[in-house]
Amino acid sequence: MNGLPPGPRMPVLLQTLGTWSRPTAFLERCRARYGKRFTVRLIGQPPMVMISDPEEIKEIFQAPPDVLHPGEGARILEPILGPNSVILLDEDPHLEQRKLMLPAFHGERMQRLAGLIADLAEREVASWPLEEPVALHPRLQRLTLEVILRAVFGLERGAQLDSLRGLLTRVLAFTESPLSVLPPLPRALTRVGPMARLERDSAEVDKLIYALIDERRRGAESSSDSASGEDVLSMLLAARHEDGSPMSPEELRDELMTALAAGHETTASQLAWAFERLAREQRVLARLTEELDSGSDDAYLTATINEILRHRPVLPNAEPRLVVQPIEIGGVLYPPGVALFANAYLLHHDPAVYPDPYAFRPERFLESPPGTYTWIPFGGGRRRCLGASFALLEMKIVMRTVLARFELCPAGDRAERARRRSITISPAGGGRVIFSERVAAEPDRREPAAVLA
Ligand code: HEM
Repeated sequence: MNGLPPGPRMPVLLQTLGTWSRPTAFLERCRARYGKRFTVRLIGQPPMVMISDPEEIKEIFQAPPDVLHPGEGARILEPILGPNSVILLDEDPHLEQRKLMLPAFHGERMQRLAGLIADLAEREVASWPLEEPVALHPRLQRLTLEVILRAVFGLERGAQLDSLRGLLTRVLAFTESPLSVLPPLPRALTRVGPMARLERDSAEVDKLIYALIDERRRGAESSSDSASGEDVLSMLLAARHEDGSPMSPEELRDELMTALAAGHETTASQLAWAFERLAREQRVLARLTEELDSGSDDAYLTATINEILRHRPVLPNAEPRLVVQPIEIGGVLYPPGVALFANAYLLHHDPAVYPDPYAFRPERFLESPPGTYTWIPFGGGRRRCLGASFALLEMKIVMRTVLARFELCPAGDRAERARRRSITISPAGGGRVIFSERVAAEPDRREPAAVLA
C-alpha cells in the first residue's frame, strides 16, 4: 500500500473524528494540502482514496465490474438492507437485480406518483408553523418516510401503515448514531441495550413487511393483474428473473428496505438544504417564485435543484469502490484492498470545473446542462442512483408546494454548517427558516402531472 496517494498523517482516530464531526471542512483541508487525490485512513476501514478529477472519476465509473466492487465496499449496510440488496451486490448478481428494479423506477412511471406525492406534501406543509423559527429536517423526514411507505410500499392509510411507520422511525433513528458505523460487534454485546432493541424492532419490521408482500402477492394473483397498482412494490411483484421466476419474498423485502434507507434520509436532507439555501438567497428565491407563479416551464426550478445538488450534495461521495483486481487510474496503480471514492463534494467545488464554486447560482445550469462526470450527486456508471427520477420529482413537488404557500427567510445570521447524519451530510441546525403566509400570488392549482410533465 506504499504507492497510494499521500494523505493526512494524523492518527487514525483523529481522522475518523474529523470525517465524522466536520465532514466537508476535513475534505477541504485535505485537498488544500494534498491536491485532487489523497488517502484517508479510518478505524476499521480499508485505506480510502478520495478522487475528484473528472477524468479519473470517469475511469472509476467505467471500470469493469470484476475490477471494482461497490457492493463489497458497502457491506457495513447489510444488517439493515439484507444480503439481496442491489446496493450490496456486485458483477452478474448486481446486474440481474438492477434489471429487475429499473422499470419500477423509470422516470415516466414515476410521473404517475406525482398526484400522491403532491397530496402528501400538501398535508404535511399545512401543519407548519408561521412567523417563528422552524427546523425543517424532522418535518421533511416525516414527509419523505410517508412518501416511501405510500408510493414504494404501496400502503394505504390504516393500522398497517401506522405500525410500520412507528417501528421504522425507531430503526432509522438508530442509523443516525455513531454505533451504526461500528464493525459487527461480538454477539454478547448485541443482547443488551440499543443493539438488542434494534434487533427486536428490525425483526418486527420484517414480520410486517413479509405479511405485506404475502398479502399483495395473493391479491395480485386473484386479480390476475399484478402490476395494476402505481406503487413500486406492484412493479417488483410483476418483475421476472431471466428464468421466468418472480422475485422471492427475501429479495422483495431487501429491495423495499433498500429504497427506504437509500431514499428517505437523502431526500429529506437534500430538501432541508434546499430551503436553507433559498432562504439565504433571496435573489434566487424571487426568480424561482416568479417562474412558478407564471405557470411557464420549470427550467429555473430544474436548474435550482441541480445547483442545490451540486452545492450541497448530501452524499459527499458515490458508493466506495473496493479494488479487487489491480487498476491504474490517473497514473496511480491501486492494489486490491483499497477503496476508491468518487468525491462529489470536492469535484463540485473545484474552481477549474465550476467557476466561483462556492456561489449559489442556478443560472450556471441554464447556460449548460450538468455533465455526466462533473455533476455526480447521484453517482454514476452502472451503479448510478436508481431513485434519481423519484428524488427529483419529489423535490420539485415539495418545493412547488412550499413556495406556493409561503415566503421564507433565514432563522439566523449565519449559513448552517454541514453535519453528518447517518449516511448523509445535513444542515447542522436542521434547515432553520421562518415562514410567513404569501399574500400576492394564487398557488398553482393545475394537476401536478401536467405541471411536471
Ligand atoms: C436526493 C436524493 C438522493 C440522492 C442524493 C441519492 C444519491 C445516491 C448515490 C450517490 C448513490 C450511489 C451511486 C454510485 O455509487 O454510483 C445512490 C444509489 C442508490 N440509490 Fe439513491 N439517492 C437519492 C434518492 C434515492 C431514492 C428516492 C431512492 C429510491 C426510492 C434511491 C435508491 C437508490 C438505490 C437502489 C441505489 C443503488 C444503485 C445500485 O447500486 O445499483 N435513491 N443514490
